[in-house]
Amino acid sequence: MSSETKRLEAMQAATVIPIGLGDRSYRISCGFGLIAQAGEVCAPFAPTRRVFLVTDSHVGPLWGPAAVSGLEDAGLRVIPLQLEAGEQTKSWGGLAALIDALAAERAERQDLIVALGGGVIGDLAGFAAGVFKRGMDFVQIPTTLLAQVDSAVGGKTAIDIEAGKNLVGLFHQPRAVLVDYAVLDTLPLRERRAGFAEVIKYGLINNRPFFDWLKAEGAALVGGGSATLAHAVTTSIRSKAAIVAADERETAGLRALLNLGHTFAHGFEALAGYDGRLLHGEAVACGMALAFDYSARIGLCPEAEAHEVATLLEAVGFQIDPRKLPGGPFAPEAVLEAMAQDKKASGGKLTLILTEGIGRAKIVPGVDFASILAYLNEIFGEG
Ligand code: NAD
Ligand code: GLY
Repeated sequence: MSSETKRLEAMQAATVIPIGLGDRSYRISCGFGLIAQAGEVCAPFAPTRRVFLVTDSHVGPLWGPAAVSGLEDAGLRVIPLQLEAGEQTKSWGGLAALIDALAAERAERQDLIVALGGGVIGDLAGFAAGVFKRGMDFVQIPTTLLAQVDSAVGGKTAIDIEAGKNLVGLFHQPRAVLVDYAVLDTLPLRERRAGFAEVIKYGLINNRPFFDWLKAEGAALVGGGSATLAHAVTTSIRSKAAIVAADERETAGLRALLNLGHTFAHGFEALAGYDGRLLHGEAVACGMALAFDYSARIGLCPEAEAHEVATLLEAVGFQIDPRKLPGGPFAPEAVLEAMAQDKKASGGKLTLILTEGIGRAKIVPGVDFASILAYLNEIFGEG
């Protein structure tokens, strides 16, 4: 089969998920081998034909050449910019390095930035695109499962600062997102599992049938399975797209549901120190188990459903006992203090995403610190 035929077949087989946001609407194209069509996807947003391809030191050597050739096929001129892989790049230092590189290349406002990488590159390049010359367009080509189902969708961009994660950022929607499942072939199993926590999250928020499907397919899915992977990714993206379309800036409350498990998770991650010992998805998996456990203990959620969630998370290989998380041991007071850095904390109270059961997540504002500390003391003290 000629490469042109293969290209056309891949394009036809792509699933396109629209995100409806008025004049900020965009399409998420998902399929196998789509990176070869990067040029087709990006060209409409690159009037100068110049593209800055921002990637990291792991992804660049693996997928940079395919992305460059896909972009060049559409007549685009590509300037690759490679940053060090790792969360520490999503920082003032990483931002300055990227902005300085753009300036040194005399990037123009009408040039296009393409983020090729995981959530770190997507968040950082998206933020740089939002602020450089008061705003450039950008396209996301997410290369981790987490980025495909979560961070590349919805326009949240940010860097981390000393005081906490994602504290400096802006909403800046991409012009398009290109999800190529094939790039996940090189993703280490641990990273793939971590991304799977966010997939499970969508079932837990509002989609019980999806959760049941994950229960049947879950463990196998982490390791491979192309058709099932495509279903898991597109279902997740559709869930997030619907929530983002309804509440782009998290003002109506709905988008906060996406933070299920995240307040506990951010506490653990901050204490573990973002050095790779505890991945974001691993912390989220434990955080979701705790959100269900807490909800069951206060009588909001049936205990059997909290147990069902814990069972799936463990079957997939997550550690859901917070006392055994890598990067610990954590003291309950320190966990609470780290949780209190949450953007939604105010006046000694936190908004928690709790649940009435699987598929029925609920935003609960005004949970006081003392109740959370009492809960943490309870679970950290249990034999
Ligand atoms: P990451 O970008 O650090 O990627 C994880 C690791 O995998 C890195 O070492 C990376 O180089 C490597 N990698 C990426 N793709 C690869 C591939 N295809 N093959 C081999 N290696 C590959 O981390 P992540 O988990 O993708 O993202 C985490 C970040 O995303 C955090 O900073 C988090 O705050 C952010 N996030 C943002 C949002 C949002 O809405 N913007 C949502 C969730 C998470
Ligand atoms: N990851 C949370 C959000 O996009 O709102």
